[in-house]
Amino acid sequence: MSNSQVKFYSGENIPLELHKTRIVQKLHLVPIERRLEALHEGGFNTFGLKTTDVFLDMLTDSGTNAMSDDQLSAMMRADDAYAGSQSFMRLQRAVEDVLDKKYYLPVHQGRAAENILGCAYVKKGSLIPMNYHFTTALAHITEKGGQIVELLYPEAYVLKSSHPFKGNMNLEALEEYIQKHGKRNIPYIRMEASTNLIGGQPFSIENLRAVRSIANKYGIRLVLDASLLGENAFLVKQREEEFKDTSLGDIIKIMTGLADLVYFSARKLSSSRGGGICTNDEAIYKELESLVPLYEGFLTYGGISIREIEAMAVGLYETQDETVISQSPTFIAYLVNEAEKKGVPFVTPPGVLGAHVNAMEFCSHLPQTQYPAGALAAAFFLISGVRGMERGTLSNQRDEYGNETYADMELLRLAVPRRVFTLSQMNYVIDRLYWLYENRELIGGLKFIYEPPVLRFFMGRLAPISDWPQKLIAKFREDFGDSL
Ligand code: F0G
Repeated sequence: MSNSQVKFYSGENIPLELHKTRIVQKLHLVPIERRLEALHEGGFNTFGLKTTDVFLDMLTDSGTNAMSDDQLSAMMRADDAYAGSQSFMRLQRAVEDVLDKKYYLPVHQGRAAENILGCAYVKKGSLIPMNYHFTTALAHITEKGGQIVELLYPEAYVLKSSHPFKGNMNLEALEEYIQKHGKRNIPYIRMEASTNLIGGQPFSIENLRAVRSIANKYGIRLVLDASLLGENAFLVKQREEEFKDTSLGDIIKIMTGLADLVYFSARKLSSSRGGGICTNDEAIYKELESLVPLYEGFLTYGGISIREIEAMAVGLYETQDETVISQSPTFIAYLVNEAEKKGVPFVTPPGVLGAHVNAMEFCSHLPQTQYPAGALAAAFFLISGVRGMERGTLSNQRDEYGNETYADMELLRLAVPRRVFTLSQMNYVIDRLYWLYENRELIGGLKFIYEPPVLRFFMGRLAPISDWPQKLIAKFREDFGDSL
């Protein structure tokens, strides 16, 4: 059962909530003048904001998905033991039942898995083909001297599209790349489910099967980043004819079954904290095993609190439940479809994780040197209290010579964590986005005032290059009076 199966007599397309809310958290909607102070305090970077100044936190779904009553109650029976905890055995069983992998290595979050894979397999000169990079995956590979190559089809870069699987690996380019560079230099191929940085776009099972055959042909390992696998599987069910009657649980198993190694951020996949690496190959397990106690913690907790291990086990089973997994993508589709009617440009078709506003088009008057997606994120927070995340040039890293590398896409990501927001909150987001779009010429650019060398988007501090925030406030007051 998913909420897209419930039709309204009025004909309206409403993603009905299939859960009820029993624990709530008070939000803070502070006046626009305070929001400008908060932006200055946080260096015009939404990572620098405090939640006491944030109304709707759409920064990420990482660690912010709503947890279920079953997850919370499981946390009460945590078996705290350094080694051999029963909680860990329950998690191991969940990994085997849901992801169909016998061997599981726990890590504290997704990037820790990337570090361990990097330590084991990446060295100077290694080449890692992938559908598209994720920030932390790229940083761990380059830190170890490796290089990545992104092999999407051209359609992936078309922002306004109806292509159902923009995260598909370009199969011809992959094979050509392997033939050119030789399998010796390629420790693994990485496929990212629901390709994050191009707008949470899925790949199809047909494509994954074809990548598997190429991997078999050349004897190269296939690694699946399953952080957003549940929602990718849901879109496979919706968009890939062959699987329309297959259960979500079975689709997930088909996908993990095609990879030699699966890793994930449990902050996303299982609405908990933690992460993991799993495989059915004992030799792979042995290659990675000793790195876990070194970097994470003993093999039966891996840096994750035992309570979270219990929540993770239950959360993994819940990724097989369509009522849980359909909620975020259907809310995202509602947001995108309604705001698009008012002219706001988005990445389409709507994907997973969040709605992705096309900042290059929204702020077409701003050059990439002025970080249009970062500027849009700051402007949108200013006029709404909604915190999104820049996913554009600011999130890129400089090249080895220190030059700016301009992102393929400048996006403002508005994350929709699972089962957190209500539909009237989505309507507020649509309303304020519409207002900002009508007043978009008032948005100005940003410049760095402090730029850290690694993952600069997290801690970087920026400043507006003119008094554009004051002009936006003046227009807001003109149109909204004393409204918050
Ligand atoms: N892989 C993907 C596809 C991700 O989206 C993330 C995290 C990671 C790996 C790293 O996992 O955060 O647990 O270390 N994405 C978050 C986001 C940060 O906001 O998109 P982590």
